[in-house]
Amino acid sequence: MSARELHLNAFLMGVGHHEAAWRHPRTDPRALDDVAHFQNLARIAERGTFDSVFLADGVQIWGDVKHTAAGRFEPLTLLTALSQVTDHIGLIATASTGFSEPYNLARLFSSLDHISGGRAGWNIVTTAQDRSAQNFNREVNTEHAERYRRAGEFLDVVTALWDSWEDDALVIDQETGVFADDTKVHEINHKGRFFSVRGPLNAVRSPQGRPLLVQAGSSEDGRTFASAWAEAVFTAQQTHEEATAFYTDLKRRVVAFGRAENDLLVLPGIVPVLGGTEAEALALAAELDDLIIPTRAVRQLTELIGIDLTGHPLDERLPELPPVSHVNGAKSRFELVRDLAEREKLTLRQLLGRLGGGRGHQVVAGTPEQIADHVELWFTTGAADGFNVMAPLLPSGLEDFVDQVVPLLRARGLFRTEYTGRTLREHYGLARPVSRYSRVPV
Ligand SMILES: Cc1cc2nc3c(=O)[nH]c(=O)nc-3n(C[C@H](O)[C@H](O)[C@H](O)COP(=O)(O)O)c2cc1C
Repeated sequence: MSARELHLNAFLMGVGHHEAAWRHPRTDPRALDDVAHFQNLARIAERGTFDSVFLADGVQIWGDVKHTAAGRFEPLTLLTALSQVTDHIGLIATASTGFSEPYNLARLFSSLDHISGGRAGWNIVTTAQDRSAQNFNREVNTEHAERYRRAGEFLDVVTALWDSWEDDALVIDQETGVFADDTKVHEINHKGRFFSVRGPLNAVRSPQGRPLLVQAGSSEDGRTFASAWAEAVFTAQQTHEEATAFYTDLKRRVVAFGRAENDLLVLPGIVPVLGGTEAEALALAAELDDLIIPTRAVRQLTELIGIDLTGHPLDERLPELPPVSHVNGAKSRFELVRDLAEREKLTLRQLLGRLGGGRGHQVVAGTPEQIADHVELWFTTGAADGFNVMAPLLPSGLEDFVDQVVPLLRARGLFRTEYTGRTLREHYGLARPVSRYSRVPV
């Protein structure tokens, strides 16, 4: 094993990441509401010694209800069920700083960390869509920069709550009746612009001290937020050049923030379409793309980039798009889609095909060796610390990756053959934070 270790996260989504996965004969759409399906996926990822599994989430219905495979469990609830059938793998749930209160989320993640023995992670999102705001008493979403300001204060509060019980606060003396040393349990007394929170948390400090903090927004403000808070970043990158630029920029910002480069891992998404030969892999990719329903795909693209493309002729290039400064939705995904369409001079139909596999994440079709080569290249040339693996079909695509690609990565000395740590932080090689309230011995 080389000194630097590759990290793999299994991004689980329904019966596959390809937007038409549920129509393919290799999936069973009835599994979408079956906890056993997700438990099976977590066990497969654990067999492949993945660092973690990850669930995305939103607070709205997505896309075209008529053609979209719906049925989604709330992530923290589902991960609790997964924690009971796995022993090592990390469990990362998405939750929004825009539509939650810090006290509630601090409790939920602390509970998962306790229940799983230190395997919880939080994918912090600010939520980009107006449609989400409309489920929370508002017509339009908060302005982009303001969303990140709220996220920053949200993190101040949540981390203070997680720290509010020092590690050695518990006494548990049945003889004297002293359960806790109350000098080691702290009110946080936060009073800020967005939140006023007294504390302490009504849960003792969890095994990881603080659950792992992951972030998934790559705009200018998103990167600033990540450099302050994130320990891992999920990101969509289309080309090696873009990925390297993003990686270099984020590492520079982390260091400028006074943290070490390795305190933050960069994990781009990859959709591996595997075949015994390259021709077989390309045939599977084409088979899936043929199942895309264009009206549904246009609706998804509209929601993804926040620009309404309904009715735009499929065989024409995109209309002129507004500057990113005018976009209040997901800024980085908007730029990715605009750049992809311009670079490759794509018509709307062609663009929908390019996005169908992974909503802007790179799709790599090939043999196991070709996928392993790709992973190795990005990992060893400053483009990634690991990958967010997004199987196009589930469970088969994850099984194929674990059985065919992981052994190659292990044989090349890039990836672990067994778990050496117990907590998610240990898998990611990240330190356990000390409570801000702990008195440092003099
Ligand atoms: C891998 C990945 C997963 C994401 N998962 C979610 C999610 O589950 N829910 C969500 O609301 N946004 C999700 N996002 C979107 C971002 O959190 C963010 O809202 C969006 O990229 C806008 O941020 P930006 O304007 O900083 O680019 C995800 C992004 C990436 C790259």
